[in-house]
Formats: sequence, structure tokens, C-alpha cells
Amino acid sequence: MTETSKPTKPFLRALAKETLSPPPIWLMRQAGRYLPEYREVREQAGGFLDLCYTPKLAVEVTLQPLRRYGFDAAILFSDILVLPHALGRTVAFKEGEGPVLDPIKDENDINFLKVDAIEKNLAPVFETVRGLSEAIPETTALIGFAGAPWTVATYMLEGGSSKDFATAKDWMFSRPAAFGKLMDTLVEATTRYLIAQIDNGAEAIQIFDTWAGVLPAAYFRQWVIGPIGEITRRIHSQRPGIPVIGFPKGAGVLYESFVKETGVDGVGLDASVPIRWAARTLQPHCAVQGNLDPLLLVAGGAAMENAVREIREAFESGPFIFNLGHGIVPQTSPDNVASLVKMVRKPLA
Ligand code: CP3
Repeated sequence: MTETSKPTKPFLRALAKETLSPPPIWLMRQAGRYLPEYREVREQAGGFLDLCYTPKLAVEVTLQPLRRYGFDAAILFSDILVLPHALGRTVAFKEGEGPVLDPIKDENDINFLKVDAIEKNLAPVFETVRGLSEAIPETTALIGFAGAPWTVATYMLEGGSSKDFATAKDWMFSRPAAFGKLMDTLVEATTRYLIAQIDNGAEAIQIFDTWAGVLPAAYFRQWVIGPIGEITRRIHSQRPGIPVIGFPKGAGVLYESFVKETGVDGVGLDASVPIRWAARTLQPHCAVQGNLDPLLLVAGGAAMENAVREIREAFESGPFIFNLGHGIVPQTSPDNVASLVKMVRKPLA
């Protein structure tokens, strides 16, 4: 798409601030363990990272949910942790344990991060993006993604998932210069990674800041709004016309500053965000995306149906993309996903 041409795919039209009824729909983690056909390919691939780095298989698992449900967008199958891997850190996914990384110990480890290796080390991911842009249906949009610098930094500093982020916060609060150097490196690496995804066919970008909500407000402004704003501005200036969605999970009232100060085209809302407040406060500035609780998708039935109707009604008079408030969980029934898509595509009574 060129800068001047208007998008025709519903997902991209919503990001260009069009109001659509019914709204476009895709779901975070729409490819994954809740689908039996995913588990089959995953077993064939061996490790999770092998799956991410084998374009033929990564393309296949990206397409699986599109075949079942006809979503309006496909999201590249990969993970936010391929970036630290490409920068030279050790990353492993252990069964039932989640990700394990060798934690960054000192400033020397930060100096050794290989930003110039991004394009070469992530070549299989770019090949997947190219394969997908040929394989997806004409009305489906292709989303590229990366983790936000703060969320990726937590995994690099903690060595994996964390309950309290004590180590990452200790760097942030007590070693601000070294922490700042890591964040600057991640802004640079993430921008280069996303630009390469765009150059291989990604039509929109989502930046996942899963752990945005654990920071005090002043630090949220500096280390969530700051880096995501910088990456967004660089994408807008280097690849005009490519929309950026920010997902600062758990941001609460700071969602308002996030939207106004980063310049994102769309904002992902977690399930705790009050929908009428978001419609009033955020939707005049950008497209909103969300925010059904993933456990309501597990529950199904009347509880899900009521929540879906309330969300649709709240956002019906502005740009809106239906999604969950976080990723699909493995115990979700594929039939409930089919019912959800049907509900979202039904005219509002
Ligand atoms: O369908 C899609 O949404 C695209 C693929 C995608 C994955 N991870 C695949 C994946 C995306 C966009 C992500 C993003 C991601 N990865 C985030 C940000 C969004 C979020 O969910 O908060 C984070 C924090 C990660 C890091 C990560 N990856 C963790 C903590 C785990 C282990 C927990 C788990 O669910 O197993 C992963 C593994 C992972 N990434 C899986 C998938 C499908 C499961 C791996 C498997 O098949 O065993």
C-alpha cells in the first residue's frame, strides 16, 4: 500500500479510523495449543523455537485459525523472545516452565548485544512473513509484531518469567545509566526488526507491552510511553502508511497518556479497562482493540454472549477491532471460538 491509497481490508480500514459494522475480528494467540492441528505440527517441529524458525511450519500454523474461522487478520507466528535470541542471548522454552534465558549480569553483556545481526539471524522469520503475504486470503491483513522494550528487558534481566520483576526494577531504579543503555539498544533493534517485517510484507504492526502495568506512573511514562512512542515515530517516518497498534497491558488510567503521547494508530485494551470510559477517552484519538476476558471465551454461553454485546455496543460508533483482553488460553474450546466469531459478525439488534 502506498501512502496515499486508501486501505480496502476491513482490519486496515478500522486502523485508518473508519467505523465498521460488523467490526473486524482477530484474537491474540489465535494460533496455539487450543487447536489440535497446532499441537500436531508443534510435535513434528520438536522445540518451540524450531517451529518459529522453520518457515514452512510457521506459515502453516499461522494459517490454521484462518481456515477454521476466517479472521480479518493473520498474526505472524513467532515469539517476542526471538529478538533477544538474535541479539546473542541464550533462549530456551522448557515444557511446563515457560521461557528460560541466561540473565544479563552487567554492562558488558549489554555492550555485546549484536544489533547488526538482526537481519541475518532473523532471516527465517522474514521468510515466513513473505510466505504468508502470498498465502493469506485477499481480504485478510498480515500483522507483524515485537515485544516492547520494557517487556523484553524483563525477560533478559530476570532470565525468564517473573512474579515481582525485582531484578528488572532494581536495574531501572538503581542502575539507570546501564538500564537506559539496554533500553536504547532494544529500541534500535526492535525498530530494525519491525522495518524488516514490513519490507517482507507485514501490513500493520503490534507492539506487546505485557508487563507495562507493573510500573509506577513516572516510570511508565519514561519506559513504556517513551520507547513505544519512539519506535512508532520511526516506523511512521520510515514506512509511512503502516499502522502501529500498542498494547500496554494493565496501564489503567495511563492508557489516555499512552494514546495521546505515543501516536499509535490503534490501542489494545486489556479486559480490566471500562469500555464506556475507553469509548469516550481513547476512541476519539485512535482505533480501539479488545477486550473480552479470555476466560469468558473459555466459559462461553450467556456470560460470553452478554459481554460480547456490551463491548460491541460501547464501541459501535467509532473505529473498533474486536479482540480479547489478552491471549487465548490453551484450555479454550475451538467451538467457543467459532461461536464468538459468529456473534461478532451478527448485526447488532
Ligand atoms: O498467534 C499469535 O498470537 C502469534 C504468536 C505469538 C506467540 N507469542 C506464540 C507462542 C505471539 C504474538 C506471542 C507474544 C508473546 N510471547 C508475548 C506477548 C503477548 C502475551 O501473551 O503476553 C509474551 C510475553 C511472550 C513470551 C512467551 N512465549 C511466554 C511467557 C511463553 C510461555 C507461556 C506459554 O503460554 O506457554 C511463550 C510461548 C509461546 N509463544 C507459545 C505460543 C503459541 C506456546 C508454546 C508452545 O507451543 O508450547
